[in-house]
Amino acid sequence: MVPAEKRQRTAAIVSSWDYAPAPEAKDIVKIQDRYGLFIGGKFVEPLSKQHYTTIDPAHEEPLAEVAQAGKADVARAVRAAREAYATRWSKLRPSERAKYLYRIARILQERSREFAVLESRNGGKPIRESRDVDLPLAAAHFFYYAGWADKLEYAFANRKPKPIGVAGQIIPWNFPLLMLAWKIAPALAAGNTVVLKPAETTPLTALLFCDVLRQAELPPGVVNIVTGDGRTGAELVAHSDVNKIAFTGSTEVGKAIQRALAGTGKRLTLELGGKAANVVFDDAPLDQAVEGIVNGIYFNQGHVCCAGSRLFVQESIYDAIISKLKRRMSTLRVGDPLDKNTDVGAINSKMQLDKITSLVQSGIDEGAEIYQPPCKLPERGYWFVPTVFTNVAQSYRIAQEEIFGPVLSVLTFRTPDEAVEKANNTPYGLSAGVWTEKGSRILAMAQKLKAGVVWANTYNRFDPASPFGGYKESGFGREGGLHGLEPYLAFDE
Ligand code: NAI
Ligand code: MG
Repeated sequence: MVPAEKRQRTAAIVSSWDYAPAPEAKDIVKIQDRYGLFIGGKFVEPLSKQHYTTIDPAHEEPLAEVAQAGKADVARAVRAAREAYATRWSKLRPSERAKYLYRIARILQERSREFAVLESRNGGKPIRESRDVDLPLAAAHFFYYAGWADKLEYAFANRKPKPIGVAGQIIPWNFPLLMLAWKIAPALAAGNTVVLKPAETTPLTALLFCDVLRQAELPPGVVNIVTGDGRTGAELVAHSDVNKIAFTGSTEVGKAIQRALAGTGKRLTLELGGKAANVVFDDAPLDQAVEGIVNGIYFNQGHVCCAGSRLFVQESIYDAIISKLKRRMSTLRVGDPLDKNTDVGAINSKMQLDKITSLVQSGIDEGAEIYQPPCKLPERGYWFVPTVFTNVAQSYRIAQEEIFGPVLSVLTFRTPDEAVEKANNTPYGLSAGVWTEKGSRILAMAQKLKAGVVWANTYNRFDPASPFGGYKESGFGREGGLHGLEPYLAFDE
């Protein structure tokens, strides 16, 4: 038997339960020092002779030198895409196109750990999300559209679908590989070729994807990747031999692209910002709703166009929801994106951190009440503590403007009509959430909310078969599902 005094010494009193670090290994993915542009099936030096440094936002450390494509580089990429379109891809039997897409999907699955680590390093998102959401969904999009490639005549019966040519695709930094998949998979399935420009802060998974294309033996020129900032994007938009532009990003740039294309006959789809309402009725299961609220706004640091950034709570359950929400927020772990226990990773860039910081300051200045759970942030890197604002008026900037960060604005309502009125009081209309036990109320709300997607008793659910896109200043055109093929097809009618 252990003597009593010794027992006391050995039995340490546990005052807190901390997670041990659980870092994902970095060495699974090799990052080159320097990348060229992927044109005509191989990496070439940029004619612009310019490169810039892409960083890891969690450590503010350089990862690689990436090419800044200029006008001549974009022209070269469009030429390669045109040639591949005219000589090979549009002539290929649709069932052969499908085989390439299936191959790409399978290789993405096989190499998913490598891609997930790279996505988290270059973009700052938690490995749990890149591993469990971005990668499986990206592969699923290729599988899904592979299935349609040889069934287009069936999908659009009596309409004779034809490809349209070269698609210019410009994507943002919040879901770099997933947005690439959303853009490339339907374009190729429909028989088009592509020039894609990744966002300037997150080019690395798109560049690694070029190696997947090599492995899949995709014919040269069918997919071309040109890196660079907004200037490169503008060159792609302006190029006269591009038949269609697909853009995901800010409403401001979307409007500029629409102006640039007016009268050119080029096709356009825009997927822009949002300020989604997440509406909680008093008959909702509260704990489940709180999980949905947290997932709606803190997933991917709130860098989500369909984030549930405005929470509407029915007055009778306001106190209960807010106290449960604050308690849940205090359990969120903010920090190293490569740690498997991390819930909220790094803010994508200094520019985005500054934007979030200034909008949050405007909320304080306009009179909203701020709450942030106690939280120790790493010393280096770009971070923002999960934040909730209460006492928010409809007119405040934090209730009107897209923050694109982990910041929630809470408002209240008494009746369903008031909820609809307030929820629709925004220039955007991308998504919404409804929490209630009543099925009839879900249907009624879904009818009245001006949003492309309405989730009921859940949030941020995605499936390649389900179309996604906006109303009003959130853009037009749909991605995903059969609807997502239409913008890449022409019809003899
Ligand atoms: P952005 O719209 O400038 O960037 C998105 C993409 O467009 C990037 O690839 C960029 O290089 C390109 N681009 C920029 N200017 C262009 C131009 N004139 N012509 C063609 N392409 C151009 O977005 P940014 O500056 O990164 O973020 C600003 C705000 O936009 C964010 O704070 C957020 O509110 C919103 N945003 C919304 C996104 C969404 O998914 N709806 C994605 C990214 C940003
Ligand atoms: Mg911009």
